Amino acid sequence: LSPSILAADFSILGEQLREIEDAGAEYVHLDVMDGLFVPSISFGMPLIQSIRKGCSLVFDVHLMIEEPIRYIREFREAGADILTVHYEACSDVRETLRKIRQSGMKAGLSIKPGTDPSVLEPFLSDCDMILLMSVEPGFGGQKFMDSSLDKISYYSSKKAECGYSYFIEVDGGVGAGNAHLVRDAGVELIVAGSAVFKAADREAAIRGIKGI
Ligand code: DX5
Ligand code: ZN
Repeated sequence: LSPSILAADFSILGEQLREIEDAGAEYVHLDVMDGLFVPSISFGMPLIQSIRKGCSLVFDVHLMIEEPIRYIREFREAGADILTVHYEACSDVRETLRKIRQSGMKAGLSIKPGTDPSVLEPFLSDCDMILLMSVEPGFGGQKFMDSSLDKISYYSSKKAECGYSYFIEVDGGVGAGNAHLVRDAGVELIVAGSAVFKAADREAAIRGIKGI
């Protein structure tokens, strides 16, 4: 589980990170938005760098920015462990992934819900993670799109068939009520923002999403 801090209370972010870690999260999902690739603007390197101190969760950074290749070193220095870029935002996908790995991070590649999943085929061996969006990127709290389930299964069977090493992450609208669907389809890492941070009982929400 990779809780997205987009739904957290930024005035007590450090405390909330400790809470999700104590409740059993292993990752934290950090949504970076540039106001160009997506309509909204969220946060960037300074925030990531400041929460890195005193937090041992794996930093799963989701870049919703145009030409992310420009900032790979900066995100590494800020503390990212996994750096995910959008297929639609890169003019040179292969080189972007190569640079991410070369700088010592895991490389993730994502597509928006409307993008044909087959476009990622040429890059599957260059990826450590495939991030499938189950909402239109840009905002938290949207409704899960069922159409993402087929894509999850598609990448899951491809992985089994061809022996790829990427893991599959799903992002958007997932909570305790539908997490079993994405788990059954083959997801290995679930992003959840609202379902974790807006829950009255965060620990129960985390257990519900993990199915334990
Ligand atoms: C959307 C972001 C998601 C979002 C998920 O652009 O990539 O990570 O924060 O939030 P929920 O779980 O609330 O849909
Ligand atoms: Zn995200």
